[in-house]
Order: sequence, then structure tokens, then C-alpha cells
Amino acid sequence: MKIVVVQGPNLNMLGVREQNIYGPMKLEQIHAQMKTFADENKFEIEFFQSNLEGELVDKIQECYGDADGIIINPAAYTHTSIAIRDAISAVGLPTVEVHISNIYRREEFRQKSMIAPVCASSIVGFGPFGYHLAMIGMTQILNEIRALRAQQAAAQKSAE
Ligand code: DQA
Repeated sequence: MKIVVVQGPNLNMLGVREQNIYGPMKLEQIHAQMKTFADENKFEIEFFQSNLEGELVDKIQECYGDADGIIINPAAYTHTSIAIRDAISAVGLPTVEVHISNIYRREEFRQKSMIAPVCASSIVGFGPFGYHLAMIGMTQILNEIRALRAQQAAAQKSAE
């Protein structure tokens, strides 16, 4: 089982940027905690950060056939990017959206997520802990998919 974590623009500045909103944790620290969880739960995890919309789209496309699920914080592109939304839709993988801050309590322009309608779930406002919650949620989603597939295979076999 493989999960790809996709991080959008300015998230490489965590720990420096607006600490009153995003807290003091650096992206590397968040990823180190996620890696520990992945190791403990025996799944593969890959991290990707870019400030460029097209690179984020490319990474999501690369997940097709390579990953089982995506955890994504598209950062500012959340509010503008139809291209990222379409890429998530195109690959058809279970995707969990994460926002460190509660975007629904912030400026009006942040209160709309272009990607939420194509995601299995959205986690907002828990700070960096949201990434941990996303991994727990993703594990649950993937287990459910696996169980459903096993059930379908068994039903198919008994019908033969
Ligand atoms: C963010 C919220 C976005 O509005 C903002 O542009 C970000 C970070 C968050 O994690 O809270 O860069 O996605």
C-alpha cells in the first residue's frame, strides 16, 4: 500500500511563514512524523512539494498506477486550481485534503475549496496534526476498499 503526500506552494516555508496561523513546525518535521506512522503501519509513503501548479498536476498524474491514495494540501491553489481538481478526478484515487488552518474561518477568498468535491474527505484547522488524522482516515478508506474488493472477488468466484 502506497500513499503519496502532495504539498503546494509556500508549505516549504512552514516554521518561518505566519507562525501565528501555521505554527512553528517545519515541513520536514511533519513529514518525519508521517514517515514514522507509515513505518509503524507498514505502508509506503512518498512526499512531494512544489510551488508550481503544473508540477503538482504532473505529480498527481504520476500517482495513477503507482499509488493507492493521495493526501494533498494544495495551499493557495486550493482556491483557484481547476487543473488540480481535474487531475484528482482523472486519476480516480481516494484523496484526502488537508489544511493546517481552518480555511472556513479565514478570509472569504479562502473559504472555497475547488478540490473538496473530488476528495473523499477534508481535514481543516487541526494544525499539523491534520496530516496525522488524514493518514488514519486514509488507512480506513483503503482497508474498506480492500475488504470490498475481496468480497466482490469471493462473490464472483462463487457465481462461477
Ligand atoms: C493552507 C490554507 C491556504 O489558504 C493557504 O494559501 C496556504 C495553506 C493551510 O494549510 O491552511 O498556503 O492550505
